[in-house]
Amino acid sequence: MDMINSSAVSSSIALVFIAAVITKVAWGRITADPASRNTPPHPPAVSGSSIIPLLHTLVTKGFRTMLQEQYTKFGSVFTISFLGMKTTFLVGPEVSAHFYQGPESEISQGSFLEFTVPMFGKDVGYGVDIATRTEQNRFYLDVLKPAKLRCHVAPMLQEVEPGPGLGSPNPSPGCTDLASHRPTCFLPFIWIAIGAEKNLRKMTEGGNGREILCEMGTARASARLSSIFAEIVRSRKSSNRVEEDVLQNLMGSKYKDGRPTTEAEVTGLIMAILFAGQHTSTATSTWTGARLLSHTECLEAALEEQQQIVKKHGDNIDYDTLLEMSFLHCCIKEALRMHPPGPIFLSKVHKNFTVRTREGYEYEIPKGHTIASPLVINHNIPYIYKDLDVYDPHRFGPGREEDRLGGKFTYNTFSGGRHACPGEAYAYMQVKVIWSHLLRNFELKLVSPFPETDWLKVTPELRGKVEVSYKRRMLPRSMLEN
Ligand code: HEM
Ligand SMILES: *[C@@H]1O[C@H](CO)[C@@H](O)[C@H](O)[C@H]1NC(C)=O
Repeated sequence: MDMINSSAVSSSIALVFIAAVITKVAWGRITADPASRNTPPHPPAVSGSSIIPLLHTLVTKGFRTMLQEQYTKFGSVFTISFLGMKTTFLVGPEVSAHFYQGPESEISQGSFLEFTVPMFGKDVGYGVDIATRTEQNRFYLDVLKPAKLRCHVAPMLQEVEPGPGLGSPNPSPGCTDLASHRPTCFLPFIWIAIGAEKNLRKMTEGGNGREILCEMGTARASARLSSIFAEIVRSRKSSNRVEEDVLQNLMGSKYKDGRPTTEAEVTGLIMAILFAGQHTSTATSTWTGARLLSHTECLEAALEEQQQIVKKHGDNIDYDTLLEMSFLHCCIKEALRMHPPGPIFLSKVHKNFTVRTREGYEYEIPKGHTIASPLVINHNIPYIYKDLDVYDPHRFGPGREEDRLGGKFTYNTFSGGRHACPGEAYAYMQVKVIWSHLLRNFELKLVSPFPETDWLKVTPELRGKVEVSYKRRMLPRSMLEN
Protein backbone atom coordinates (compact mmCIF):
# COMPACT_ATOMS: atom_id res chain seq x y z
CA MET A 1 0.00 0.00 0.00
CA ASP A 2 2.69 2.44 1.04
CA MET A 3 4.79 1.34 -1.89
CA ILE A 4 2.01 1.89 -4.38
CA ASN A 5 1.21 5.26 -2.93
CA SER A 6 4.72 6.55 -2.85
CA SER A 7 5.31 5.38 -6.37
CA ALA A 8 2.27 7.41 -7.40
CA VAL A 9 4.11 10.47 -6.16
CA SER A 10 7.27 9.67 -8.00
CA SER A 11 5.41 8.77 -11.15
CA SER A 12 4.00 12.25 -11.24
CA ILE A 13 7.43 13.70 -10.69
CA ALA A 14 8.56 11.33 -13.39
CA LEU A 15 6.06 12.79 -15.79
CA VAL A 16 8.23 15.80 -16.20
CA PHE A 17 11.10 13.73 -17.49
CA ILE A 18 9.06 11.34 -19.56
CA ALA A 19 7.49 14.34 -21.19
CA ALA A 20 10.90 15.20 -22.49
CA VAL A 21 11.42 11.89 -24.16
CA ILE A 22 8.07 10.88 -25.57
CA THR A 23 6.99 14.41 -25.92
CA LYS A 24 3.71 15.60 -27.24
CA VAL A 25 4.92 19.15 -27.02
CA ALA A 26 5.37 20.50 -30.50
CA TRP A 27 8.87 21.75 -30.94
CA GLY A 28 9.68 24.12 -33.72
CA ARG A 29 11.79 22.39 -36.32
CA ILE A 30 15.35 23.26 -35.87
CA THR A 31 16.78 24.48 -39.11
CA ALA A 32 20.40 23.52 -39.33
CA ASP A 33 21.91 26.53 -41.00
CA PRO A 34 25.53 26.18 -41.96
CA ALA A 35 27.24 27.99 -39.13
CA SER A 36 28.60 31.33 -40.18
CA ARG A 37 32.31 31.88 -39.77
CA ASN A 38 32.17 33.51 -36.38
CA THR A 39 29.47 31.35 -34.82
CA PRO A 40 30.78 28.40 -32.84
CA PRO A 41 29.68 24.95 -34.04
CA HIS A 42 26.76 23.06 -32.58
CA PRO A 43 27.63 20.38 -30.02
CA PRO A 44 28.46 16.85 -31.15
CA ALA A 45 25.22 14.98 -31.71
CA VAL A 46 23.90 11.45 -31.60
CA SER A 47 21.14 10.94 -34.14
CA GLY A 48 19.80 8.58 -36.78
CA SER A 49 20.79 4.95 -36.41
CA SER A 50 23.51 5.68 -33.87
CA ILE A 51 20.71 6.30 -31.42
CA ILE A 52 19.89 2.57 -31.30
CA PRO A 53 22.74 1.39 -29.03
CA LEU A 54 22.02 4.33 -26.80
CA LEU A 55 18.36 3.36 -26.49
CA HIS A 56 19.45 -0.17 -25.77
CA THR A 57 21.60 1.03 -22.86
CA LEU A 58 18.76 3.26 -21.69
CA VAL A 59 16.32 0.36 -21.52
CA THR A 60 18.67 -2.23 -20.08
CA LYS A 61 20.89 -0.18 -17.77
CA GLY A 62 19.03 3.06 -17.22
CA PHE A 63 19.69 6.66 -18.14
CA ARG A 64 22.59 7.21 -15.80
CA THR A 65 24.77 4.65 -17.55
CA MET A 66 23.55 5.88 -20.92
CA LEU A 67 24.53 9.48 -20.12
CA GLN A 68 27.79 8.44 -18.51
CA GLU A 69 28.76 6.68 -21.75
CA GLN A 70 27.95 9.73 -23.87
CA TYR A 71 29.84 11.99 -21.48
CA THR A 72 32.89 9.75 -21.69
CA LYS A 73 32.64 9.77 -25.47
CA PHE A 74 31.83 13.43 -26.21
CA GLY A 75 32.77 15.42 -23.13
CA SER A 76 30.68 17.95 -21.29
CA VAL A 77 28.35 19.09 -24.10
CA PHE A 78 26.46 16.78 -26.45
CA THR A 79 23.10 16.59 -28.16
CA ILE A 80 20.81 13.60 -28.39
CA SER A 81 18.39 13.87 -31.25
CA PHE A 82 15.37 11.64 -31.01
CA LEU A 83 11.96 11.75 -32.68
CA GLY A 84 12.65 15.26 -33.92
CA MET A 85 13.50 16.54 -30.48
CA LYS A 86 17.00 17.72 -29.70
CA THR A 87 18.18 17.55 -26.13
CA THR A 88 21.55 19.04 -25.31
CA PHE A 89 23.21 17.86 -22.12
CA LEU A 90 25.35 20.30 -20.21
CA VAL A 91 27.60 18.40 -17.82
CA GLY A 92 29.61 20.06 -15.10
CA PRO A 93 29.93 23.54 -13.64
CA GLU A 94 31.87 25.10 -16.53
CA VAL A 95 28.92 24.86 -18.92
CA SER A 96 26.04 25.11 -16.43
CA ALA A 97 25.80 28.79 -15.53
CA HIS A 98 23.37 29.82 -18.26
CA PHE A 99 21.16 26.82 -17.54
CA TYR A 100 20.60 28.02 -13.97
CA GLN A 101 20.90 31.75 -14.41
CA GLY A 102 19.63 32.54 -17.88
CA PRO A 103 16.61 34.89 -17.89
CA GLU A 104 13.14 33.43 -18.41
CA SER A 105 12.93 35.04 -21.87
CA GLU A 106 15.96 33.01 -22.98
CA ILE A 107 15.53 29.78 -21.05
CA SER A 108 12.39 28.44 -19.40
CA GLN A 109 11.15 25.32 -17.69
CA GLY A 110 7.50 26.12 -18.26
CA SER A 111 6.57 23.41 -20.73
CA PHE A 112 7.99 20.75 -18.42
CA LEU A 113 6.13 21.91 -15.36
CA GLU A 114 2.71 22.63 -16.77
CA PHE A 115 1.56 19.27 -15.44
CA THR A 116 1.60 20.84 -11.99
CA VAL A 117 -1.18 23.28 -12.83
CA PRO A 118 -4.07 20.84 -12.18
CA MET A 119 -2.41 19.89 -8.89
CA PHE A 120 -1.75 23.33 -7.43
CA GLY A 121 -4.44 25.31 -9.23
CA LYS A 122 -4.29 28.03 -11.84
CA ASP A 123 -3.55 30.78 -9.31
CA VAL A 124 0.05 29.82 -8.63
CA GLY A 125 3.25 28.61 -10.27
CA TYR A 126 2.91 27.70 -13.91
CA GLY A 127 -0.73 28.76 -13.93
CA VAL A 128 0.22 32.45 -13.65
CA ASP A 129 2.40 34.89 -15.57
CA ILE A 130 6.10 35.15 -14.86
CA ALA A 131 5.82 38.41 -12.90
CA THR A 132 3.31 36.90 -10.46
CA ARG A 133 5.28 33.67 -10.26
CA THR A 134 8.42 35.62 -9.38
CA GLU A 135 6.59 37.31 -6.54
CA GLN A 136 5.26 33.98 -5.32
CA ASN A 137 8.80 32.59 -5.33
CA ARG A 138 9.70 35.48 -3.09
CA PHE A 139 6.91 34.37 -0.69
CA TYR A 140 8.45 30.88 -0.56
CA LEU A 141 11.89 32.29 0.16
CA ASP A 142 10.49 34.49 2.85
CA VAL A 143 8.35 31.93 4.69
CA LEU A 144 11.04 29.25 4.56
CA LYS A 145 14.04 31.41 5.36
CA PRO A 146 16.26 30.26 8.22
CA ALA A 147 15.10 33.00 10.61
CA LYS A 148 11.54 31.70 10.32
CA LEU A 149 12.51 28.11 10.99
CA ARG A 150 13.39 28.39 14.65
CA CYS A 151 9.85 27.93 15.87
CA HIS A 152 9.44 24.63 14.02
CA VAL A 153 12.15 22.78 15.89
CA ALA A 154 10.29 22.12 19.15
CA PRO A 155 7.16 20.62 17.54
CA MET A 156 9.36 18.50 15.28
CA LEU A 157 11.22 17.13 18.28
CA GLN A 158 7.94 16.23 19.94
CA GLU A 159 6.88 14.38 16.85
CA VAL A 160 10.11 12.45 16.47
CA GLU A 161 10.24 11.42 20.14
CA PRO A 162 8.67 7.95 20.15
CA GLY A 163 11.38 6.75 17.80
CA PRO A 164 11.38 4.65 14.69
CA GLY A 165 7.73 3.77 14.53
CA LEU A 166 7.78 2.13 17.89
CA GLY A 167 4.79 3.83 19.36
CA SER A 168 6.10 4.18 22.89
CA PRO A 169 8.89 6.17 24.49
CA ASN A 170 10.57 3.04 25.76
CA PRO A 171 10.07 0.44 23.09
CA SER A 172 11.51 -3.02 23.39
CA PRO A 173 14.21 -3.80 20.86
CA GLY A 174 12.97 -4.55 17.37
CA CYS A 175 13.41 -4.08 13.70
CA THR A 176 11.89 -1.69 11.19
CA ASP A 177 12.16 -0.92 7.50
CA LEU A 178 13.18 2.71 7.08
CA ALA A 179 12.27 2.59 3.41
CA SER A 180 8.66 1.65 4.05
CA HIS A 181 7.73 5.15 5.21
CA ARG A 182 6.03 3.47 8.11
CA PRO A 183 8.37 4.52 10.90
CA THR A 184 6.82 7.43 12.74
CA CYS A 185 10.15 9.17 12.92
CA PHE A 186 9.91 9.70 9.18
CA LEU A 187 6.60 11.39 9.62
CA PRO A 188 6.53 14.30 7.26
CA PHE A 189 7.33 17.20 9.54
CA ILE A 190 6.21 19.47 6.84
CA TRP A 191 2.71 19.03 8.16
CA ILE A 192 3.71 20.73 11.34
CA ALA A 193 5.39 23.61 9.61
CA ILE A 194 2.49 24.35 7.40
CA GLY A 195 0.07 24.23 10.26
CA ALA A 196 -2.28 21.63 8.89
CA GLU A 197 -1.24 18.96 11.26
CA LYS A 198 -4.02 19.21 13.83
CA ASN A 199 -6.75 19.42 11.22
CA LEU A 200 -5.34 16.48 9.36
CA ARG A 201 -5.19 14.36 12.45
CA LYS A 202 -8.81 15.13 13.03
CA MET A 203 -9.83 14.49 9.48
CA THR A 204 -8.07 11.19 9.22
CA GLU A 205 -9.54 10.02 12.52
CA GLY A 206 -6.40 10.04 14.59
CA GLY A 207 -4.16 9.18 11.66
CA ASN A 208 -1.39 11.52 10.73
CA GLY A 209 -2.48 12.47 7.27
CA ARG A 210 0.26 10.39 5.78
CA GLU A 211 -2.21 8.31 3.81
CA ILE A 212 -3.35 11.35 1.91
CA LEU A 213 0.15 12.61 1.57
CA CYS A 214 1.33 9.38 0.04
CA GLU A 215 -1.36 9.68 -2.57
CA MET A 216 -0.32 13.17 -3.47
CA GLY A 217 -0.03 13.51 -7.16
CA THR A 218 -3.30 11.75 -7.72
CA ALA A 219 -6.14 14.07 -8.66
CA ARG A 220 -8.35 12.81 -5.85
CA ALA A 221 -5.77 13.49 -3.17
CA SER A 222 -4.96 16.93 -4.62
CA ALA A 223 -8.60 17.89 -4.51
CA ARG A 224 -9.00 16.60 -0.98
CA LEU A 225 -5.91 18.36 0.27
CA SER A 226 -6.84 21.62 -1.43
CA SER A 227 -10.19 21.62 0.26
CA ILE A 228 -8.63 20.87 3.64
CA PHE A 229 -6.23 23.79 3.29
CA ALA A 230 -8.93 26.13 2.03
CA GLU A 231 -10.97 25.25 5.09
CA ILE A 232 -8.08 25.96 7.44
CA VAL A 233 -7.48 29.34 5.79
CA ARG A 234 -11.18 30.21 6.07
CA SER A 235 -11.47 29.16 9.68
CA ARG A 236 -8.39 31.14 10.68
CA LYS A 237 -9.67 34.20 8.90
CA SER A 238 -13.12 34.01 10.39
CA SER A 239 -11.89 33.42 13.93
CA ASN A 240 -8.95 35.83 13.65
CA ARG A 241 -6.83 33.01 14.97
CA VAL A 242 -3.12 33.49 14.32
CA GLU A 243 -0.67 30.58 14.42
CA GLU A 244 3.06 30.55 14.03
CA ASP A 245 3.50 28.55 10.86
CA VAL A 246 4.15 28.62 7.14
CA LEU A 247 0.47 28.68 6.27
CA GLN A 248 -0.03 31.76 8.42
CA ASN A 249 2.97 33.47 6.86
CA LEU A 250 1.65 32.77 3.39
CA MET A 251 -1.70 34.23 4.42
CA GLY A 252 0.18 37.35 5.47
CA SER A 253 2.30 37.57 2.29
CA LYS A 254 1.69 40.59 0.09
CA TYR A 255 2.38 41.37 -3.55
CA LYS A 256 4.38 44.49 -4.39
CA ASP A 257 1.21 46.45 -5.05
CA GLY A 258 0.03 45.66 -1.54
CA ARG A 259 -2.50 43.01 -2.54
CA PRO A 260 -2.69 40.16 0.01
CA THR A 261 -2.71 36.52 -1.12
CA THR A 262 -6.09 34.96 -1.82
CA GLU A 263 -7.40 31.71 -0.35
CA ALA A 264 -6.80 29.91 -3.67
CA GLU A 265 -3.24 31.23 -3.82
CA VAL A 266 -2.40 30.21 -0.26
CA THR A 267 -3.84 26.77 -0.97
CA GLY A 268 -1.85 26.40 -4.18
CA LEU A 269 1.38 27.60 -2.61
CA ILE A 270 1.01 25.18 0.28
CA MET A 271 0.29 22.31 -2.08
CA ALA A 272 3.44 23.15 -4.05
CA ILE A 273 5.50 23.21 -0.86
CA LEU A 274 4.14 19.82 0.14
CA PHE A 275 4.77 18.35 -3.25
CA ALA A 276 8.30 19.76 -3.39
CA GLY A 277 9.25 18.94 0.18
CA GLN A 278 7.65 15.70 1.24
CA HIS A 279 8.97 12.97 -1.01
CA THR A 280 12.40 14.62 -1.29
CA SER A 281 12.89 14.82 2.49
CA THR A 282 11.64 11.32 3.18
CA ALA A 283 13.95 9.84 0.56
CA THR A 284 16.85 11.87 1.95
CA SER A 285 16.21 10.66 5.51
CA THR A 286 16.21 7.07 4.30
CA TRP A 287 19.37 7.33 2.17
CA THR A 288 21.23 9.22 4.89
CA GLY A 289 20.38 6.41 7.31
CA ALA A 290 21.32 3.66 4.90
CA ARG A 291 24.68 5.32 4.16
CA LEU A 292 25.52 6.20 7.76
CA LEU A 293 24.64 2.79 9.12
CA SER A 294 26.82 1.05 6.57
CA HIS A 295 29.93 3.15 7.22
CA THR A 296 31.18 2.49 10.71
CA GLU A 297 33.69 5.31 10.57
CA CYS A 298 31.11 7.93 9.57
CA LEU A 299 28.65 6.59 12.09
CA GLU A 300 31.25 6.93 14.84
CA ALA A 301 32.17 10.44 13.75
CA ALA A 302 28.49 11.42 13.71
CA LEU A 303 28.02 9.96 17.20
CA GLU A 304 31.12 11.73 18.43
CA GLU A 305 29.74 15.01 17.16
CA GLN A 306 26.48 14.42 19.02
CA GLN A 307 28.43 13.63 22.14
CA GLN A 308 30.37 16.90 21.91
CA ILE A 309 27.17 18.84 21.45
CA VAL A 310 25.49 17.07 24.37
CA LYS A 311 28.49 17.89 26.54
CA LYS A 312 28.12 21.53 25.63
CA HIS A 313 24.36 21.98 25.65
CA GLY A 314 22.87 18.98 27.46
CA ASP A 315 20.05 17.03 25.83
CA ASN A 316 18.49 20.19 24.62
CA ILE A 317 18.15 20.56 20.86
CA ASP A 318 17.15 23.82 19.29
CA TYR A 319 17.78 25.63 16.07
CA ASP A 320 21.28 26.72 17.10
CA THR A 321 22.40 23.27 18.24
CA LEU A 322 21.20 21.90 14.90
CA LEU A 323 23.45 24.42 13.17
CA GLU A 324 26.38 23.09 15.15
CA MET A 325 25.90 19.61 13.69
CA SER A 326 28.20 20.30 10.80
CA PHE A 327 29.38 16.72 10.31
CA LEU A 328 25.81 15.43 10.25
CA HIS A 329 25.12 18.17 7.72
CA CYS A 330 27.90 16.83 5.52
CA CYS A 331 26.55 13.28 5.93
CA ILE A 332 23.21 14.42 4.54
CA LYS A 333 24.84 16.44 1.80
CA GLU A 334 26.94 13.47 0.71
CA ALA A 335 23.88 11.17 0.71
CA LEU A 336 22.25 13.76 -1.54
CA ARG A 337 25.27 13.88 -3.85
CA MET A 338 24.93 10.16 -4.43
CA HIS A 339 21.13 10.02 -4.36
CA PRO A 340 19.69 13.32 -5.55
CA PRO A 341 15.88 13.17 -5.48
CA GLY A 342 15.73 15.10 -8.76
CA PRO A 343 18.35 13.39 -10.94
CA ILE A 344 18.11 15.67 -13.98
CA PHE A 345 16.66 19.12 -14.74
CA LEU A 346 15.27 20.26 -18.07
CA SER A 347 14.70 23.62 -19.72
CA LYS A 348 13.81 24.92 -23.14
CA VAL A 349 16.04 27.31 -25.11
CA HIS A 350 14.35 30.42 -26.55
CA LYS A 351 17.47 32.23 -27.65
CA ASN A 352 20.76 30.87 -28.99
CA PHE A 353 23.60 30.87 -26.51
CA THR A 354 27.21 29.79 -26.37
CA VAL A 355 29.00 27.66 -23.81
CA ARG A 356 32.72 27.20 -23.30
CA THR A 357 34.00 23.92 -21.97
CA ARG A 358 36.80 23.36 -19.50
CA GLU A 359 39.04 22.37 -22.41
CA GLY A 360 38.25 25.65 -24.15
CA TYR A 361 35.89 24.41 -26.88
CA GLU A 362 32.93 26.64 -27.68
CA TYR A 363 29.54 25.45 -28.83
CA GLU A 364 26.42 27.27 -29.82
CA ILE A 365 23.20 25.86 -28.40
CA PRO A 366 20.41 26.93 -30.73
CA LYS A 367 16.93 28.12 -29.91
CA GLY A 368 14.49 25.20 -29.87
CA HIS A 369 16.79 22.74 -28.13
CA THR A 370 15.82 21.24 -24.82
CA ILE A 371 18.74 21.54 -22.42
CA ALA A 372 19.38 19.18 -19.57
CA SER A 373 21.51 19.40 -16.45
CA PRO A 374 22.11 15.78 -15.38
CA LEU A 375 22.93 15.84 -11.68
CA VAL A 376 23.64 12.15 -11.68
CA ILE A 377 26.64 12.91 -13.90
CA ASN A 378 27.51 16.36 -12.47
CA HIS A 379 27.91 14.82 -9.05
CA ASN A 380 30.21 12.15 -10.38
CA ILE A 381 32.87 14.12 -12.21
CA PRO A 382 36.27 12.64 -11.36
CA TYR A 383 38.27 15.90 -11.52
CA ILE A 384 35.93 17.37 -8.88
CA TYR A 385 34.88 14.53 -6.63
CA LYS A 386 37.70 12.39 -5.33
CA ASP A 387 36.92 8.65 -5.09
CA LEU A 388 33.45 9.46 -6.22
CA ASP A 389 31.97 6.04 -5.52
CA VAL A 390 32.94 6.29 -1.87
CA TYR A 391 30.51 7.76 0.66
CA ASP A 392 32.77 10.43 2.16
CA PRO A 393 31.06 13.29 4.03
CA HIS A 394 34.48 14.83 4.76
CA ARG A 395 34.74 15.90 1.12
CA PHE A 396 32.50 18.84 2.01
CA GLY A 397 34.35 19.67 5.19
CA PRO A 398 36.92 22.37 5.92
CA GLY A 399 39.99 22.19 3.74
CA ARG A 400 38.36 20.13 0.98
CA GLU A 401 35.02 21.69 0.06
CA GLU A 402 34.82 19.77 -3.18
CA ASP A 403 31.38 21.20 -3.84
CA ARG A 404 33.02 24.55 -4.54
CA LEU A 405 35.88 23.38 -6.72
CA GLY A 406 34.11 24.31 -9.92
CA GLY A 407 32.31 27.41 -8.68
CA LYS A 408 28.71 27.73 -7.62
CA PHE A 409 27.21 25.16 -9.98
CA THR A 410 29.38 22.25 -8.85
CA TYR A 411 26.81 20.73 -6.52
CA ASN A 412 23.22 21.10 -7.67
CA THR A 413 21.03 18.84 -5.58
CA PHE A 414 18.91 21.88 -4.72
CA SER A 415 19.16 23.27 -8.22
CA GLY A 416 20.57 26.80 -8.31
CA GLY A 417 20.36 30.33 -9.57
CA ARG A 418 16.82 31.38 -10.35
CA HIS A 419 15.47 27.92 -9.59
CA ALA A 420 17.19 27.24 -6.30
CA CYS A 421 15.05 25.33 -3.81
CA PRO A 422 13.71 27.74 -1.18
CA GLY A 423 13.33 24.81 1.26
CA GLU A 424 16.99 23.80 1.48
CA ALA A 425 17.54 25.02 5.04
CA TYR A 426 14.26 23.47 6.09
CA ALA A 427 15.21 20.16 4.49
CA TYR A 428 18.54 19.97 6.32
CA MET A 429 16.87 21.00 9.54
CA GLN A 430 14.31 18.23 9.49
CA VAL A 431 16.70 15.48 8.47
CA LYS A 432 19.06 16.63 11.23
CA VAL A 433 16.22 16.55 13.78
CA ILE A 434 15.44 12.98 12.77
CA TRP A 435 18.99 11.65 12.70
CA SER A 436 20.34 13.47 15.74
CA HIS A 437 17.41 12.06 17.68
CA LEU A 438 17.91 8.53 16.41
CA LEU A 439 21.66 8.58 16.96
CA ARG A 440 21.29 9.86 20.51
CA ASN A 441 18.54 7.52 21.57
CA PHE A 442 18.98 4.26 19.69
CA GLU A 443 21.59 1.74 18.88
CA LEU A 444 20.89 1.05 15.26
CA LYS A 445 22.19 -1.59 12.87
CA LEU A 446 21.49 -2.07 9.22
CA VAL A 447 20.51 -5.72 8.94
CA SER A 448 19.50 -5.84 5.28
CA PRO A 449 21.99 -5.49 2.43
CA PHE A 450 22.72 -1.93 1.30
CA PRO A 451 19.75 -0.93 -0.89
CA GLU A 452 20.12 -0.61 -4.62
CA THR A 453 18.93 2.19 -6.82
CA ASP A 454 16.46 1.40 -9.54
CA TRP A 455 18.00 3.35 -12.43
CA LEU A 456 15.38 2.13 -14.85
CA LYS A 457 12.85 4.41 -13.19
CA VAL A 458 12.77 7.92 -14.53
CA THR A 459 13.16 9.21 -11.02
CA PRO A 460 15.56 6.63 -9.58
CA GLU A 461 14.17 5.03 -6.49
CA LEU A 462 15.57 3.08 -3.64
CA ARG A 463 14.94 -0.57 -4.35
CA GLY A 464 14.39 -3.03 -1.54
CA LYS A 465 14.44 -2.51 2.17
CA VAL A 466 16.46 -0.61 4.71
CA GLU A 467 15.86 -3.03 7.54
CA VAL A 468 17.24 -1.59 10.75
CA SER A 469 17.39 -3.19 14.17
CA TYR A 470 17.08 -0.84 17.12
CA LYS A 471 17.64 -0.88 20.81
CA ARG A 472 16.87 2.04 23.07
CA ARG A 473 19.88 3.44 24.82
CA MET A 474 19.65 5.86 27.63
CA LEU A 475 21.45 8.65 25.91
CA PRO A 476 22.66 11.18 26.22
CA ARG A 477 23.57 10.30 29.79
CA SER A 478 25.45 7.16 28.79
CA MET A 479 27.23 9.17 26.12
CA LEU A 480 28.57 11.44 28.78
CA GLU A 481 29.65 8.57 30.99
CA ASN A 482 31.86 6.86 28.46
C1 HEM B 1 16.34 17.06 0.35
C2 HEM B 1 15.24 17.70 0.13
C3 HEM B 1 14.97 18.60 -1.05
C4 HEM B 1 15.55 18.66 -2.29
C5 HEM B 1 16.67 17.79 -2.84
C6 HEM B 1 14.89 19.73 -3.02
C7 HEM B 1 15.21 20.10 -4.32
C8 HEM B 1 14.53 21.07 -5.03
C9 HEM B 1 14.83 21.45 -6.38
C10 HEM B 1 15.92 20.81 -7.23
C11 HEM B 1 13.97 22.43 -6.75
C12 HEM B 1 13.92 23.17 -8.08
C13 HEM B 1 13.03 22.45 -9.00
C14 HEM B 1 13.01 23.11 -10.33
O1 HEM B 1 13.66 24.12 -10.54
O2 HEM B 1 12.34 22.58 -11.17
C15 HEM B 1 13.11 22.67 -5.62
C16 HEM B 1 12.08 23.59 -5.59
C17 HEM B 1 11.31 23.84 -4.49
N1 HEM B 1 11.43 23.29 -3.23
FE1 HEM B 1 12.78 21.90 -2.70
N2 HEM B 1 13.95 20.29 -2.21
C18 HEM B 1 13.97 19.65 -1.01
C19 HEM B 1 13.18 19.92 0.10
C20 HEM B 1 12.27 20.94 0.17
C21 HEM B 1 11.51 21.27 1.37
C22 HEM B 1 11.64 20.57 2.71
C23 HEM B 1 10.68 22.29 1.03
C24 HEM B 1 9.69 23.05 1.87
C25 HEM B 1 9.60 23.01 3.15
C26 HEM B 1 10.92 22.60 -0.37
C27 HEM B 1 10.26 23.58 -1.09
C28 HEM B 1 10.49 23.84 -2.42
C29 HEM B 1 9.68 24.79 -3.18
C30 HEM B 1 8.53 25.62 -2.63
C31 HEM B 1 10.19 24.80 -4.47
C32 HEM B 1 9.73 25.63 -5.63
C33 HEM B 1 8.61 24.95 -6.30
C34 HEM B 1 8.05 25.80 -7.39
O3 HEM B 1 8.81 26.59 -7.99
O4 HEM B 1 6.87 25.66 -7.65
N3 HEM B 1 11.91 21.76 -0.85
N4 HEM B 1 13.48 21.83 -4.58
C1 LIG C 1 20.44 30.81 -33.92
O1 LIG C 1 20.96 29.60 -34.36
C2 LIG C 1 20.38 29.14 -35.56
C3 LIG C 1 20.92 27.75 -35.81
O2 LIG C 1 22.31 27.73 -35.64
C4 LIG C 1 20.69 30.12 -36.69
O3 LIG C 1 20.08 29.70 -37.87
C5 LIG C 1 20.15 31.48 -36.29
O4 LIG C 1 20.53 32.44 -37.26
C6 LIG C 1 20.68 31.90 -34.94
N1 LIG C 1 20.00 33.11 -34.51
C7 LIG C 1 20.64 34.17 -34.06
C8 LIG C 1 19.79 35.33 -33.67
O5 LIG C 1 21.86 34.22 -34.00
